Amino acid sequence: MDERDNRWRSDLKDRLEYFNQMGIDDVASETAGVVRADRTSPPPNRRLEEIAARIRSCRRCPLSETRRNAVPGEGNSSADLMFIGEAPGRDEDARGIPFVGRAGQLLTRIIKAMKLERGDVFISNVVKCRPPDNRNPNRIEIETCHGYIMEQIDLIKPKVIVTLGNIPTRFFLDTTRGITALRGEFQEFQGIKVMPTFHPSYLVRNEANRVLRKNVWEDMQQVMAFLGIE
Ligand code: URA
Repeated sequence: MDERDNRWRSDLKDRLEYFNQMGIDDVASETAGVVRADRTSPPPNRRLEEIAARIRSCRRCPLSETRRNAVPGEGNSSADLMFIGEAPGRDEDARGIPFVGRAGQLLTRIIKAMKLERGDVFISNVVKCRPPDNRNPNRIEIETCHGYIMEQIDLIKPKVIVTLGNIPTRFFLDTTRGITALRGEFQEFQGIKVMPTFHPSYLVRNEANRVLRKNVWEDMQQVMAFLGIE
């Protein structure tokens, strides 16, 4: 059995325990069948793709009527690090890929400065479809969509989540405090370290403000230290 099989098994065991604790026996026995089938069990990247397929055909909220493409997220199915933004913008909506506009290019540079590639991490959003005119996603849209990001986190099991800006930070930390107060200090969400930092589009909009960039870099250095990236 290779390392991926092992990871898949222990991942599945955790999920079964969770479903058992929730008193959901159907899932447990159905999934137990999958455990017995063993070699035919889909690996995490396939399961991530299954979630993405459901997101692409999702019609749960009105954003699905105005989107061009849903943007499920992309990256490594066993990433130690996830970056989570608020919702796709125009460029992301056009391509179905997260963080590919100006803010996304800056995020890519930040990731590289951390000695990582986009393919090493997982990049996603709390809301998977673009809100019209780039407005913030509202509470109902976040509540309707949040199951998908939870499934992705549950599958990937990152060691650190970097929340980009107010919306994902408030969602994960269940707070109304602002990003300026919260950034730069590790918090926790369901046993996972969360590092809130400024959204890259805020940095792009305030290009002349070097302090903001320095702040983000300090936050990322803490993440690197935690993950043992030298
Ligand atoms: N802003 C976000 O929050 N997410 C994206 O994917 C792009 C811009």
